[in-house]
Amino acid sequence: MPDIAKDQLALEEARKFAGREHGLFIDGAWMAPRSGSTFETFNPGDGSRIGHAAAGGEADVDLAVRAARAALEGPWADMKPSERARLLWRLADAIEAHADEFALLETLNNGKPLRDARMFDVPHAVEVLRYNAGWTTKLNGESVNLSGPGTWHAYTVREPVGVVAAIVPWNAPLAMAVAKTAPALAAGCTIILKPAEQTPLTAIRLAHLVEQVGFPKGVFNLVTGLGEAAGAALVAHAGVDKVTFTGSTEVGRLIVKGATANMKRVTLELGGKTPVIVMPDADINRAIEGAARSIFTNAGQICNAGSRLFAHESVFDALVEGVADFAGKLRVGPGLDPNTQMGPVVSAEQRERVLGYIEAGLRDGAKISGQGTAASGPGYFVPPTVLTGTNSQMSVVREEIFGPVLCAMSFSDRDLDAIAAQANDTDYGLGAIVWTQNLSAAHKLARKIKAGTVRVNGGGLDPALPFGGFKQSGWGRENGREGIEAYTEVKSIAIAL
Ligand code: NAI
Ligand code: MG
Repeated sequence: MPDIAKDQLALEEARKFAGREHGLFIDGAWMAPRSGSTFETFNPGDGSRIGHAAAGGEADVDLAVRAARAALEGPWADMKPSERARLLWRLADAIEAHADEFALLETLNNGKPLRDARMFDVPHAVEVLRYNAGWTTKLNGESVNLSGPGTWHAYTVREPVGVVAAIVPWNAPLAMAVAKTAPALAAGCTIILKPAEQTPLTAIRLAHLVEQVGFPKGVFNLVTGLGEAAGAALVAHAGVDKVTFTGSTEVGRLIVKGATANMKRVTLELGGKTPVIVMPDADINRAIEGAARSIFTNAGQICNAGSRLFAHESVFDALVEGVADFAGKLRVGPGLDPNTQMGPVVSAEQRERVLGYIEAGLRDGAKISGQGTAASGPGYFVPPTVLTGTNSQMSVVREEIFGPVLCAMSFSDRDLDAIAAQANDTDYGLGAIVWTQNLSAAHKLARKIKAGTVRVNGGGLDPALPFGGFKQSGWGRENGREGIEAYTEVKSIAIAL
């Protein structure tokens, strides 16, 4: 039984935190932004203003970059890897100790159901920190046998890439902040984190814990602010060695352009249009539930949400009916309501965007084969929607909607190349999900699909498994060995003996 009185108290605390005067966290200290300006932040569940955050600009970014550089070349470089691991582990413990508070803040600011924040976002952040803490002591180079003449001792070492700017989105604010911070710090880099302007709160709370657990000053800096101000200033700054970004492909392109001045390293985790392929031999009930969860979780605001359903014609009707039924029964409401299964989208702007896509789909000839009810009230609610009659020319199929909208299409040809070609007919290549009982078809399809992650019959995100995109879904990988190596430079050393 949830303790309602205790929950109310915790919510009051979270609201109080949201409403505080928040500064920027630079060089181990909290400070007001040089401009003195702030931006407002809202509760998507009811559209109310819940606080404001400091709008950092160029001058603040410059201070943060200098602090990060000094730490990189000072105490952080001198620290034993195991000490870095200990700090990361302590940060994980601190988040865990404040798990309820983080979950409440995330729900208050992003809108997602509280149970999702509790079950996924917060524990995932903790796991990612612990996973990367283990890498601090295991980042080795290798010895190399040279092919040229002479006697040599040759080897490689991995060094931190340097000062990292992390620009993150609003769909999983804490998890995204940690997805960048953990490997960067584990690799020995220092970081400036810029959260999305829609959702600054958990990043601010994270900075308080960084301060509390005792990282040397300047190792982790937080500059809240607008993308075109704080974000752009980070991308332009000559003292930043790497930008790691998650967000829209549009801004990804701007970052690539901006990074060329000093040839910053860039990793990008951009959008997706993940196909969900259901073969005739699939376990249909599991496929229905999997397909529905894949598009309706987080109100579809997940980069690898399964937004294009391709089902064999023999199971297509059952799939569409099943997912439509799921959508119809979904309890859509404010994330703080314990009965809510799907929350609002993050902002009024995002709601307009998603509704605009549904209208465009209908104009193009799609039809609604199932739709749940958006909660009434002032929150940014969108009805979970299943569209049929769609094809690969339509914007609803080509573009990332980032909302609870599934485009369902069928196939009749059992040829795996034809199925893969349909799935690959997209500019994106982040993920794919295959439902089949046929082991051979599963492995063959997995090889044919052009996407960074192929999941068969379920599965989720794991800190140990590389994640990232082919094509316009991005550059590089997060998680796993590849994820941490992306924060290192390889240096080759050759000694004539
Ligand atoms: P966005 O890409 O504009 O925002 C992501 C981050 O980039 C935020 O921190 C923002 O402040 C920053 N940013 C924005 N403009 C910038 C600039 N010029 N320089 C540096 N940083 C900048 O995403 P937005 O506009 O909030 O969402 C639009 C669409 O993008 C969504 O509907 C969705 O399709 C996609 N998106 C994809 C995400 C993913 O996880 N792949 C996450 C968020 C959005
Ligand atoms: Mg934008």
